[in-house]
Amino acid sequence: MRMERRMNFKDEMEKKVTEIEAVLKAYLPKPEGYQQIIMDAMEYSVMAGGKRLRPMLMKETYLMFGGTGKVIEPFMAAMEMIHTYSLVHDDLPAMDNDEYRRGRKTTHIVYGEDMGILAGDALLNFAFETAVKAFEMEPESSLRIGKALRVLSEKSGIYGMIGGQVVDVKETGHPVSGEMLEFIYELKTGALIEASVMVGAILAGADDAQVSEMEQIASRVGLAFQIQDDILDVTSSAEVLGKPIHSDEKNAKTTYVTWKGLEGAKHEVEEHSKEAIDRLHGLSGSNPYLETLLEELIHREK
Ligand code: IPE
Ligand code: IPE
Ligand code: MG
Ligand code: MG
Ligand code: MG
Repeated sequence: MRMERRMNFKDEMEKKVTEIEAVLKAYLPKPEGYQQIIMDAMEYSVMAGGKRLRPMLMKETYLMFGGTGKVIEPFMAAMEMIHTYSLVHDDLPAMDNDEYRRGRKTTHIVYGEDMGILAGDALLNFAFETAVKAFEMEPESSLRIGKALRVLSEKSGIYGMIGGQVVDVKETGHPVSGEMLEFIYELKTGALIEASVMVGAILAGADDAQVSEMEQIASRVGLAFQIQDDILDVTSSAEVLGKPIHSDEKNAKTTYVTWKGLEGAKHEVEEHSKEAIDRLHGLSGSNPYLETLLEELIHREK
């Protein structure tokens, strides 16, 4: 029975990923003009594959709160653009200095460091050029769209993902306290996952209390997700992950694996994920796919 449910889930997930990728493709800029190389680099990094977890969480949360329109789509594309930019910059020589991402050479290796930096900048800016298209699609939802933009911008910036990356880089090469490590993970990884579900909830018309509850659920998901990323950095392979293993050791990073050991880290993933799933159950309205997705993330292999 469990096996059967997993099979159905896998099929359903593949279908959803295909739908998300069609949306991404539709919103990417057309390669043209003297600056065409930057559109090529944007497409290279975004369309490389990837789990598409953030747009998926956004859409599923939108559905859970009764959303039915297409206004979510520019935000799904924007979210994946921001996430992809964070990866392009994370791989740069000055940051983690990694050469592979999503199963291919990372952007700065193919297009050069200059274009790697600019492709990241371009994706971040184009994310907002894309998200604002929502106003024309659904003018009657302008207030919700404005709120969603506020969340998207704040969670991407110095109080969110960028803030987390800053402390991650600054605290490299020496031991880091557990409190600091949790702060880094909640921001560098948690913030964009929080933004994903919050935008989905806001655009569907959820109230402030529901949005805040989803934010807290996603914070636990984000923490578990990054701890699992640390685990896979030592237990998986480059073939499966599509990015190098032992990147954290190479960069002398303190991680949940160095802090708590492998078993301790796995336990943390389960604890935080279970808390998220329990709290999701407690919300009115339900989305069985979303619940299964969070369960499956606990043991994800890539
Ligand atoms: C990688 O994110 C960076 C982390 C926050 C751990 P993902 O594991 O979601 O990467 P893709 O999008 O599937 O490539
Ligand atoms: C980075 O964490 C998270 C981002 C915000 C980009 P990692 O540096 O561990 O991500 P990977 O392992 O390179 O994907
Ligand atoms: Mg990093
Ligand atoms: Mg990295
Ligand atoms: Mg990692």
